[in-house]
Amino acid sequence: MHVLLLPSITGLLIAIHISLVRKHGVAPAPQDQGATKKFYPGQVFKDTVAVFVAFAVLFVTAALVEVPLERLADPTDTAYIPRPDWYFLFLFQILKYCEGAFETLGTVVLPGAGVATLLLVPFIDRKAVRRWTQRTVAFGVVGMAAFGWTALTVAAIVTTPPSKRAPEIAVDEPADWRQLSPEALAGLFYYRKEQCSTCHNLAPGPKKIGPDLATASIRRTPAWMLAHFKNAPGQVPGSVMPQVHLEDAQLVSLAAFLQVLTAKNLAEMESTPEDMAFGAVVYQENRCGVCHQVNGVGMTVGPPLNGLAQRQKPGWVEEQIRTPNKHSTETVMPGYDLSAAEMRALTAYLLSLPD
Ligand code: HEC
Ligand code: HEC
Repeated sequence: MHVLLLPSITGLLIAIHISLVRKHGVAPAPQDQGATKKFYPGQVFKDTVAVFVAFAVLFVTAALVEVPLERLADPTDTAYIPRPDWYFLFLFQILKYCEGAFETLGTVVLPGAGVATLLLVPFIDRKAVRRWTQRTVAFGVVGMAAFGWTALTVAAIVTTPPSKRAPEIAVDEPADWRQLSPEALAGLFYYRKEQCSTCHNLAPGPKKIGPDLATASIRRTPAWMLAHFKNAPGQVPGSVMPQVHLEDAQLVSLAAFLQVLTAKNLAEMESTPEDMAFGAVVYQENRCGVCHQVNGVGMTVGPPLNGLAQRQKPGWVEEQIRTPNKHSTETVMPGYDLSAAEMRALTAYLLSLPD
């Protein structure tokens, strides 16, 4: 419909319009009453300029103004308040007044009558006068329509309840790395290691070849991202994004990180200390999460590790990771033989976790 039917119908209407203009001539300006003018060349020139200006404005706005999409629709989210775009708010508001039995009035009769009136205008208003001061009825109708549209739109905006999402967003959208799951934080490490930023921006900066990920990723599911990391042209035909050479678990981390990245938190994410991100990688690769929780993610065979700094000293934590049976002989926790760098990063990470 959109690609084939509507453009051809529009083209047909334009052709009819132009042939009528050619047949009847161009309506004269109000001051020179009477004679009509020829369509060519004066009017053709004016039309061309007007269309060019409209096209240029559209083109520039499309290229420069970013209109981010909202999050993926979540049917389980009852706090979301759906509203049409501003230019349809008046219809939406009419519907609010026409409840129950009157629904057809609001959905079909009133809008239909409006469009029919527009179509009938040339037949109702057949007077030759063009000066707008003498066309009180026509201008009265236009004025009232404009007033009605504005009033309904304003009423709709004023009565829209404030979004209840604000507190939720604070929970959903981590403010900085401390609130990330170890998985997502490890993803941040891979993001840096794979130098995704040669083609993508995290923090605002000069435009790069790939899309801005803080706004783009909200449109994609983790599954889509995984397939895209392995074979970008398979997901986006013609994509120049190279294959990401990481293991599956690491790709999952990367996707988890991009999922929580938003325009609001990306500057904070950008400034995450390197050893915190590396600590999360060590945590993930040794699968500490099968027994421990960090920020509510993971199992509870062992104690949750948030707030560890309040309980233990760095030396003790290192010893616990290397030789847990020194602290409790019966423990189910295995010992880990980590390199000095891994141990330092893991301990620093665990001791920085918030309560
Ligand atoms: C050589 C440049 C280049 C590199 C390096 C690169 N990308 Fe891309 N990326 C692109 C381009 C171009 C696109 C747009 C085409 C597409 O979607 O495949 C893109 C698209 C994406 C998208 C889809 C965005 C969307 O929703 O449309 C994601 C997600 C993404 N990249 C993540 C990454 C990650 C993570 C890395 C690092 C492992 C990375 N990219 C490295 C060029 C690159
Ligand atoms: C098989 C389950 C298991 C795994 C895997 C495991 N732990 Fe543990 N961990 C425990 C248990 C149970 C305890 C409770 C004390 C004890 O039994 O030693 C514990 C205690 C700890 C403590 C002390 C917590 C406190 O509050 O005093 C730290 C720190 C710790 N583990 C870190 C890690 C790290 C880091 C990893 C991954 C490298 C890991 N654990 C992997 C089971 C596990």
